[in-house]
Parts: sequence; structure tokens; C-alpha cells
Amino acid sequence: MKISIIGTGYVGLVTGLSLANLGHQVSCVDIDKNKVSQINSGTPPFFEPGVAEMLTKIIKQKKLLATDNLEKSVKDSEIVIVAVGTPTTNNKIDLSIIKKASEQIGNALEESSDYKVITVKSTVLPGTTAEIIKPTLEKYSKKTAGKDFGLCMNPEFLREGNALEDAMNPDRIVIGQLDEKSGQEFAKIYSKLSSPKIFTNLWTAELIKYTSNSLFATLISFANEISRIAEAIGKVDVLDVWKGVHLDKRLNPIVEGKRINPAFLSYLLSGCGFGGSCFPKDIQALATFASEHNTDASLIKSVININDTQPGRVVSHLQKALVNLKGKKIAVLGLAFKPETDDTRESPALPIVKQLTLEGAEVVGHDPMAKVADIIQVDTIKEALGDADAAVVVTSWKEYRDLTPDIFKQYMKQPILIDARRIYDKRVFSKAGITYKGIGLA
Ligand code: UGA
Repeated sequence: MKISIIGTGYVGLVTGLSLANLGHQVSCVDIDKNKVSQINSGTPPFFEPGVAEMLTKIIKQKKLLATDNLEKSVKDSEIVIVAVGTPTTNNKIDLSIIKKASEQIGNALEESSDYKVITVKSTVLPGTTAEIIKPTLEKYSKKTAGKDFGLCMNPEFLREGNALEDAMNPDRIVIGQLDEKSGQEFAKIYSKLSSPKIFTNLWTAELIKYTSNSLFATLISFANEISRIAEAIGKVDVLDVWKGVHLDKRLNPIVEGKRINPAFLSYLLSGCGFGGSCFPKDIQALATFASEHNTDASLIKSVININDTQPGRVVSHLQKALVNLKGKKIAVLGLAFKPETDDTRESPALPIVKQLTLEGAEVVGHDPMAKVADIIQVDTIKEALGDADAAVVVTSWKEYRDLTPDIFKQYMKQPILIDARRIYDKRVFSKAGITYKGIGLA
């Protein structure tokens, strides 16, 4: 099928590649001319494992072409997928970009005589597709949704770092449909995939996305609340608590004599909090949406509050270990919000560095991939640790997980280590002479 994708961020480009890989003819639209020529020359505008290789392959097959001509791309397509950003500004979802895109799509629809399905893939709050995007498309096309063109909402569940794999092998395909014809026509793009398809109304599809992200964020904040209780007790290591909880058969079933270790358990671990371009903005938007609908989302608000204050707990551990942070050199290992990405949006590393700097510490950052403009960064772990008074591990990169106590002892002024992701074996590190502290450990 001929598919037009509006927006070439993570979701747009990765979706485009996975659909092109299924054999569709994909046109990726972006207003940024640089991004368009970058993509057409085979260079992804962001780092994501496997994307560069897949882009090179797909471009060679001529299955994907980027363009800044939205009108032509929409006119030439049977399916139009909207994957532009929906940032959160002043705690509220900002729909200005998606509204503008809807106007332009509407204009292009006015001059098209064939039936096309417009599908919203961007994360939008319940009601947005039916109550904001639909009237915009109708106004600018002078046509009727459900009659002249179809309308769907198809949330995306891909994770950064696993984006391509998630998009190519979706665990479920949620299709919110304005009417049955819209859903059936749109579902054809996924006909080669055996993933279960859930057909719902537009509002439900939108809420499924927010519920999914809020659930995982809630697990993380719950795990962090328990870490605070463990720290307060003083005789508990929260890691042991999670070991004891995770082995519940209801959480980690035994199949054919073996534990299946479901991925969701990795969200039920204590650390320095969640970040990224999705969880923080989505749950904030949902909390505001709930209160606008006279619903006090008190659990979600607490999830946000715990997450906002968790980086401060890491700084407290450093303060406790060093007494005074002024003039102390602190190595911050990891700036990305999670491993396998160069994305630092809402990374807990940012408030940690900011607070340390305010306390007068000399912060030296390191990350295998991420760069942050106003943080002093060095290229090697050894340089970061060199002469440091303390080190804190913020991102669980493999490079850090593989470190042994020797390197901390060899390069640091004093081997004080705050493990904010609990990636090291406490016993091994303590025995080797490291002053080992961490989240969930008094
Ligand atoms: C998240 C969701 O997981 C995706 O399903 C969703 O499509 C995406 O948001 C989105 O809305 O676009 P992402 O932000 O890429 O994806 O990353 P995750 O891997 O879920 O990580 C989010 C946060 O959870 C990070 O801060 C990370 O450190 C934390 N996390 C992640 C864990 O605590 N444990 C893990 O095993 C994985």
C-alpha cells in the first residue's frame, strides 16, 4: 500500500521503516529539510540500534522516500499516519503541531477524490482524535469523516533502544476506529503480521496508550517508594526485597520448570527514577487531563512526585558520604535516561548534576553515547574517575555494569561509589574496599 507518515521522529521513522520492510511504499514527511535529505542519504537523524542498517537497506530497495512536500505525499497515499510530537508544555499536552499537521492534511484531502484513512499515531489524550483532529480535517477538507475519508487512532508502544524490533514485532496492534470501514482499511497495512489486533473506539485506543505508560511509570515509583522505606529501616537492602517479591509465581510464572522472568519485572526495581521523552510527559498530561475532568488522579500525582524527588535522594547519599560537596570532584557515569540510547530528555542525570553543581561540587560526566551541552564530559571512564572524591552510576550501560572494583580503586582519590541503579554486587564491592552505597541501601 502507499503510506504517508507525517513526522520523522523516533516513532515516525521507525514505523516507516517497519512498514517499508513489510513491502509497503512509504513516504516520510518532515518540515525539516535537513532531516529529509539526511534520511534520503541513508543517515538516521538519531541513534537507535539497527535503524541505520535498515534505512540503508530500505533506501536501496526504493521502498522509502523522505520529503518536505506534505500535500503531494498525502495525495499520493492510501493511508496517512500522523506521528508528529505532542510535547507537554506547562503540564498540559501541546497540540499545536498536530493541529497544524491536521490542517495541512485536510487541505490535501480537499483535492483528493479517493478514500484515504487518516490515522493518529502520536500520543494524544482521550477525545483528541474525535473532538479536535476530526473537525480540523473536516473543516480544511470540506469533507465528512466516516464517509469521504476514514479516521483511526493507532497508538505506538515501541521503546527507545528496541524501537525497530518493537515496531516490526508488535505484541498487539490497537486500532481505534471512527467506523468499521476506517478500521478495516487501515488494518490492511498490518495484514502480514500475526499480532493480535484490538479494534476499539477512538477514545479507548487513546486511553490504552496512557494507561500502558502510566502503569510502567507507577511500577518504577512504587519500587522507589519501597527503597525509601528500606533506607529508613537501615537494616534492609531493597534488592533483597525485590528478589523476594519477584519470585512470586503470579509475577514470575514457572513454565516447564523454568522461570520466565517477564520484562515488566525490570520496571519493579529501585533506582534514580524514570525519564525519556514519554513517561514523564505522558503521565503529567494524564494527571492534568484527569483534574480537568473532575477526577483526582491521586495515584498518578504521587508517581510524579516520587519521580521528581528521586534524583535528590542520590544527591543525599553523596552528601552523607562526603559530608560537604563543595569543591569535591564527582564522576557521574551515565547521562542518557537509559542505556542503548543517546537520549537525555528528562534523564535523572540532569537534576543530579544540577543539584551537585549548586552544592559547589565539580562534576565530570561520562556517557558512552549521550552528549549534554553544559555538562563537562570526558571520553573515558578512567578520565571521569581520575582523582574523583566519589562516583555515581546513573545509567546502567553495559560498559558500567562490566566494571570491577579495581578501576574505582585505581583511579579515584577515594573509592566512594553511589550505585543509583543497583547494578553491582554489594558484597564483592565492599569486600574489595569500595565504600559502596546505593538506592535502597542505608
Ligand atoms: C516507553 C514505553 O515503554 C513504550 O511502550 C512507549 O511506546 C514509549 O514510552 C512511548 O510512549 O513512546 P521508552 O520511554 O522508550 O518507552 O522507554 P522504556 O524502556 O520503557 O523506559 C522508560 C523508563 O523506564 C526509563 O527511565 C527507564 O530507565 C525505565 N526502565 C526501563 C526501567 O526502570 N526498567 C526497565 O526494564 C526499562
